[in-house]
Amino acid sequence: PERGCLSIIVLGASGDLAKKKTFPALFNLYRQGFLQSNEVYIFGYARTKISDDELRDRIQGYLPHGKDGTEDVSNFLQLIKYVSGSYDDPEGFKALDKAISEHEISKQSMEGSSRRLFYLALPPSVYPQVCKMIKNYSMNKSDLGGWTRIVVEKPFGRDLASAEELSSQIGELFEEPQIYRIDHYLGKELVQNLLVLRFANRFFLPLWNRDNIANVQIVFREDFGTEGRGGYFDQYGIIRDIIQNHLLQVLCLVAMEKPVSLKPEHIRDEKVKVLQSVLPIKDEEVVLGQYEGYKDDPTVPDNSNTPTFATAILHIHNERWEGVPFILKAGKALNSRKAEIRVQFKDVPGDIFKCQKQGRNEFVIRLQPSEAIYMKLTVKQPGLEMSTAHSELDLSYRQRYQGVVIPEAYERLILDTIKGDQQHFVRRDELKAAWEIFTPLLHRIDNGKLKSLPYKPGSRGPAEADQLLERAGYVQTHGYIWIPPTLS
Ligand code: BG6
Repeated sequence: PERGCLSIIVLGASGDLAKKKTFPALFNLYRQGFLQSNEVYIFGYARTKISDDELRDRIQGYLPHGKDGTEDVSNFLQLIKYVSGSYDDPEGFKALDKAISEHEISKQSMEGSSRRLFYLALPPSVYPQVCKMIKNYSMNKSDLGGWTRIVVEKPFGRDLASAEELSSQIGELFEEPQIYRIDHYLGKELVQNLLVLRFANRFFLPLWNRDNIANVQIVFREDFGTEGRGGYFDQYGIIRDIIQNHLLQVLCLVAMEKPVSLKPEHIRDEKVKVLQSVLPIKDEEVVLGQYEGYKDDPTVPDNSNTPTFATAILHIHNERWEGVPFILKAGKALNSRKAEIRVQFKDVPGDIFKCQKQGRNEFVIRLQPSEAIYMKLTVKQPGLEMSTAHSELDLSYRQRYQGVVIPEAYERLILDTIKGDQQHFVRRDELKAAWEIFTPLLHRIDNGKLKSLPYKPGSRGPAEADQLLERAGYVQTHGYIWIPPTLS
């Protein structure tokens, strides 16, 4: 790996994202030896006027075992320095540049010494001005070599036009290889496994198409509501919060053709092709819901039509997938918390066991919790009778990989940024294609043409969504449920 001085600058250092995700991820990287204290320095930047120690105190409680104050924790915290300033003030960014440069000069004995990673843990509305400030006052020193990279996260706009505007504002200042658009689902272990599963196994190659697959579901459920962030959420809704980004990214990896190689550009080229092949979404293939009580949040307007639940069917118009519905479903305040991909196969032709009413074969990838990959299949019920039963081939991670810690998405993605690997980041044309799919539907929802149906918190969501699934040809297996194995 590249060596030399590395400065990680967390902008919005006292905000929620920084405290809950960015700093803990940096700490985990540090603990595992990926950030060496002789080359790395971490800078927090925000408007609040606080000291280095005050920032360290604020972060500490969020670090794994932070409260125990272990040696790792205190050594890590010592790597953090705080600079305060506003997001549109040259003085602040000059001060930041000075602090970073001092660090770089003190480490100048190291070769190739000015690597600067700016992590924008900020609302996207300030991305353009912050990028301008960085570009004008805080870039890496070219005589020392190295690079400047920018990490940003959704919401990238509210629709195609606003997203494109944001992209072009940032694009005027930084080149695409410098911009890392995070979609943290791409950092999840089982999402990263998709490419391997699909393209390194003979099992799947011949089956992965319209001849064999009846439908694909990509599902996200949460068993809690928008507590504490109703005001933010209400401006976006579940489609912009989860479906247009997280679930659509997963869809790309499920549906894409085999890339020429594992090079990031080859992979992203294939993802873009999938997105560009998605047909316009039809209103009758969408069900929206809003849980009862959502509007009790004082920051949510009383007449809000914002969906907290949505099921939408996407059709991919290409040779592999024509006729196969891709059902994307996401909801808050439902009866369980899980995210999974469920590939349902067609019925066996000429089935001689039909009278026994078997369910269909399914290939399920459980992203979280209890990561697992399992295949539902029909077997002979053990015993003297010749009867059949539904069972599964099961690869449950907790059991199979005992003692293996699955890294947090943010940890992996930050490490990729340091390495300069953009495979698991969203490219500009990919983002555009994703917005093209959902913008017309979103505008119809915003205009009130499509209404959110009420559902009870803790339920499965509106019954109409299950009916839509049935119409799309999904056959539920009755009387069978997969239970994650427990460790003996
Ligand atoms: C975020 C959404 O992107 O993802 C949240 O804004 C959601 O609303 C979260 O809760 C879910 O992430 P995870 O990793 O817990 O599935």
